Amino acid sequence: MTSTAISGARMLSVGTALPDKVVTNHDLEQMVDTSHQWIVERSGIHERRIGGSTSGLAAEAAQMAIERSGVDPASIDLLILATTSPDRQVPATASTVQELLGLRCGAMDLNAACSGFVYGLIAAHGFIQMGHSRILVIGAETLSRLTDWTDRSTCILFADGAGAAIIEKTDGPGDLHGWHVDSNGALEEALFCDFDDKIQMAGQAIFKNAVLAMENAARKSLEMANLSPDAIDLVVPHQANVRIVEASCKRLGIPYEKASMVIHKTGNTSSASIPLALEDAWTQGRVNKGDNLLLVGFGAGMTSAAAVITWDGI
Ligand code: UT7
Repeated sequence: MTSTAISGARMLSVGTALPDKVVTNHDLEQMVDTSHQWIVERSGIHERRIGGSTSGLAAEAAQMAIERSGVDPASIDLLILATTSPDRQVPATASTVQELLGLRCGAMDLNAACSGFVYGLIAAHGFIQMGHSRILVIGAETLSRLTDWTDRSTCILFADGAGAAIIEKTDGPGDLHGWHVDSNGALEEALFCDFDDKIQMAGQAIFKNAVLAMENAARKSLEMANLSPDAIDLVVPHQANVRIVEASCKRLGIPYEKASMVIHKTGNTSSASIPLALEDAWTQGRVNKGDNLLLVGFGAGMTSAAAVITWDGI
C-alpha cells in the first residue's frame, strides 16, 4: 500500500481509566485449570482489571486527558473511539461518550481490533490536515463481557480499560513523521467474536503473525520517517504478550528495555493497551519533549498499525 507523510498536528496529553476490580492469576486458578506460573511465563500477565462499561471507562480516560491538556472541551471538533466492545451495536459508543463529557462535536466508533488506537491517531492527524483543530482519540474496551471464563486459553489474557489522547493542530510540521496501517483478512478465523458469543482464538497462529506484522508496520513507518530503529527512544507496543514484544524488538534491533510495558498489571485491553502503556511511561518520566516514540499494534483481522511521533505534548 502507499502512504504519504502528513503534518500539522501534535499529541498534547494522555489520560487513562481502569476498573477497580483486580483479578489475579491466583483468582483464575480457582476458575480454570491454570497456574500463576504458566500465565506469567507464557504471557507476562500477573493481574488484570475487570468491570465498568466501555463508555464509562472511555469518558473517565478522556476527562483526564482533557484536564491535563488544558483545552476547552467546547473546542473539540471530533471524538474517535477505537473499540471492539461497544456498549451497543447501535448507536456508536462514541456518541454516548460525547454526551457523558458534554461535548458538541462529531463522534464515531472505529474498529480495527487491537490496532484501533493507532488507526484513530493517524485518522485524527488526517482530519486536522483537512481543517479540524482538536480531536479526542480514545481506545476503550470491556473485553471481560466477550470472554468465555471457562476457556483457559483466552480468559487469562483479556481485560478492561481505557486510554485517551488530545490531538491538536499546530503551526509547525507536527509530531507524526511516519505511519503505516495494514490488514490481512485471510486470518479472520484465527481470532473472532460472533454476535452474542465469546472470543475464540488460535493463540499460536496469532502469535507468529503478530511478530511479523509488528515488525513490518514498524519498519514501514520508520522508513517513512527516515529514521533508523536506534533513533527510537521509546516503543509503545500493543500489550498482548511480553514474548511477542520481546521477539518484535529483537527483530527490529531495538532493546526490549525501550518498550513501555503494562501488561503485567492490565492484561490485554485491545484498543486501550497502547494509550495505557504510553500514559504509564509518561507518568514515570520516560516521555520527554523531542523523544521519538514508536507506537505499534496488531490485532484480529489481522490488522496492524504503527506511528512514529516526536513527543511535543505536556
Ligand atoms: O491482541 C491480540 C490477541 N491475542 C494474542 O496476541 C495472543 C497471541 N498468543 C499468545 O499470546 C499465546 O499463544 C498464548 C499465551 C495464548 C498461549 O501461549 P503458547 O505458548 O502459545 O501456548 P500453547 O497455546 O501452545 O499451549 C501450550 C500448552 C497446551 O497444552 P499441551 O497441548 O502442550 O498439553 C495448552 O493446552 O499449554 C496449555 N494451555 C494452558 N495451560 C495452563 C493453554 N492455556 C493454558 C492455561 N494454563 N491458561
